[in-house]
Amino acid sequence: MTLNSATSAGVSSAAVPLVFDTVGQSFAVPGGTHEVLHEVTFTAEPGEIISVIGSSGCGKSTLLRAAAGLNRITAGTVRIGEKAVTGLDPRVAIGFQEPRLLPWRTVADNVALGLPQGTKKSEGAASVARLLDLVGLSEYADHRPKEISGGMAQRVSLARALARTPGVLLLDEPFGALDALTRINMQDLLLDVHRQDPTTILLVTHDVEEALYLSNRVIVLGKDTPEAPATIQRIVTVDCAHPRDRADAEITALRSELLAELGVEEIAV
Ligand SMILES: Nc1ncnc2c1ncn2[C@@H]1O[C@H](COP(=O)(O)OP(=O)(O)OP(=O)(O)O)[C@@H](O)[C@H]1O
Ligand SMILES: [Mg+2]
Repeated sequence: MTLNSATSAGVSSAAVPLVFDTVGQSFAVPGGTHEVLHEVTFTAEPGEIISVIGSSGCGKSTLLRAAAGLNRITAGTVRIGEKAVTGLDPRVAIGFQEPRLLPWRTVADNVALGLPQGTKKSEGAASVARLLDLVGLSEYADHRPKEISGGMAQRVSLARALARTPGVLLLDEPFGALDALTRINMQDLLLDVHRQDPTTILLVTHDVEEALYLSNRVIVLGKDTPEAPATIQRIVTVDCAHPRDRADAEITALRSELLAELGVEEIAV
């Protein structure tokens, strides 16, 4: 595996490894337990972008929630750097499919919500200005969420997540609700941001092309039988330098393989 393409600007001083070590997740359900994840083991190296793909309901969000400390895992350990995850970790930022902005706050104030506690006012204002510039929203600093588009709101959400200079950025289908063109722009924005400050990213997506365009590695999560818990079926290394060409032969070959693995038939064009 090479990380050169992702870390050409140098690994962020904040970037930390994210380690899943034989992680299992079960939930109590009426009449017993439901095992969702079984023996999930992988390490996202500092500055690496790892995507997780898999069919709906297979456990992708559950895996991300384990990294975020939002669920108490029932086997194994998740570590951020050296520290086992037992709850929300200040080095971790999370982004969801919907931007989750506070409607009564301005764009700038929503971004400021992501700043680490105790940030001095002047430093905070400078950080917010830099982040708004990074996501191309400087002119909208004083707007309210209802005055901006869905794609812009998602950029605000990304800026808020970046405000704490996270060691690990967890993203659960962050572009899933956006139209195709906005999604492509957001993917490029994420790569731009990552080039400037290459934090460790775990990205859940249902979009195989997005996973191949963005990641160093793609984890395929799946079940051997409908009743079985999800396990890692495969980890694919995407050894192409950025900027990537979506039509690159290696990427299109991997796309066909992954779609076949997910049981999706390709439509010939
Ligand atoms: N707190 C919980 N209690 C009980 N079951 C849960 C809980 N959280 C998740 N599950 C179950 O875990 C399984 C995986 O859910 P999860 O949301 O992780 O899937 P997913 O891969 O993210 O799906 P999608 O692609 O539709 O978002 C589902 O069967 C779900 O019902
Ligand atoms: Mg999900």
